[in-house]
Amino acid sequence: MATRPSKLSSTSRPSSIHISAVAEVERTVNTTNRPKPAVPEGTPVVTPQDLNRRPRRNRRSETVRRAFSESFLSPSHFILPVFVHDGDKNIPIDSMPGVYRLGWRNGLIESVAEARSYGVNQVVIFPKTPDHLKTQTGEEAFNPDGLAQRSIALLKDTFPDLEVYTDVALDPYNCDGHDGIVRDDGMILNDETVEYLCKQAVSQARAGADCVSPSDMMDGRVSAIRRALDSEGYTNVSIMAYTAKYASAFYGPFRDALASAPNAAGAGRIIPPHKKTYQQDPANYREALLEARLDEQEGADIMMVKPGLPYLDVIRQLRDNSPLPIAAYHVSGEYAMLKAAAQRGWLDERECVLEALMCMRRAGSDIILTYYATEAAKWLAGERV
Ligand code: PBG
Repeated sequence: MATRPSKLSSTSRPSSIHISAVAEVERTVNTTNRPKPAVPEGTPVVTPQDLNRRPRRNRRSETVRRAFSESFLSPSHFILPVFVHDGDKNIPIDSMPGVYRLGWRNGLIESVAEARSYGVNQVVIFPKTPDHLKTQTGEEAFNPDGLAQRSIALLKDTFPDLEVYTDVALDPYNCDGHDGIVRDDGMILNDETVEYLCKQAVSQARAGADCVSPSDMMDGRVSAIRRALDSEGYTNVSIMAYTAKYASAFYGPFRDALASAPNAAGAGRIIPPHKKTYQQDPANYREALLEARLDEQEGADIMMVKPGLPYLDVIRQLRDNSPLPIAAYHVSGEYAMLKAAAQRGWLDERECVLEALMCMRRAGSDIILTYYATEAAKWLAGERV
């Protein structure tokens, strides 16, 4: 057994440098015949497979796993969606445990302050409009004193460096529950809706929004909104386009939160119970590329895919076909599934949530809208929540 005694002489170092007593210890090392860990009795004795490549070598310790990790998560990637209402109390949302309709004056500010304290400095605002302010044409969307506009202004006054995103679509303001104006035969009007979306986006920019996010899926809305913003002097306000927004059943809890689901038809009118004439068919992949090309040409700054986990292939497609930043929306139904299973003890919430978010990053998203933003940031900071 080759041993190499090593001893540091105390006289060989300058007396002014203090080295701990450990240096004085006699050390022996075994460099050639290191003990082999035991295997369980009954383990078959085999000749090693003749493999020149064993991928497990690059996974064998936490250190190498970290060294070779291709993706990472940071609170700077997260956007926290917040629901606000015009009252004072925070009202729990049954299908989204842990998420509230926040009072816009207090709960909103407290919730955003907490998110910021963990490094989440981006939010998107969703207002719950009282029924009496909803109309078939949704003019409340561009009321300069509307709940969304007041919430944006208060946030920017309180936290000037907070990145405030807004949702541009008529559904929270439309008594028919659609993102656009519904004609009596059930057609969702495109160009007429775009006219109002432009007014909505400009009024949000005027209130202080940094980035407006059209989620309505009307054709031509990104270029129209860009022109409207620019003509009012808001050349610095960005557009995050919901580029590939699918007609998904995973938005159910969100529609509970805002009471914004498509409404039953009124006398003599047809109101489609779904949004399939403007949101994309979940069966489609190429269509997302068409939408992406248009949004890019029309001037979008960021392109979004929504929902997140069931649509990772679409995130990857956009990432590989565009230089623009890509956002993924980890939507309300995805949150509800994870929360429900976690509350029953069926899933490890922290591990599953961080894995879900990491997978959206791996698929190619730069940023992620997630109701878990603050909790995930706490977990990343090593906190138990
Ligand atoms: C509104 C809008 C919706 C969501 C974001 N913006 C609902 C819808 O399109 O019906 C869903 C977000 C979520 O489920 O978390 N246009």
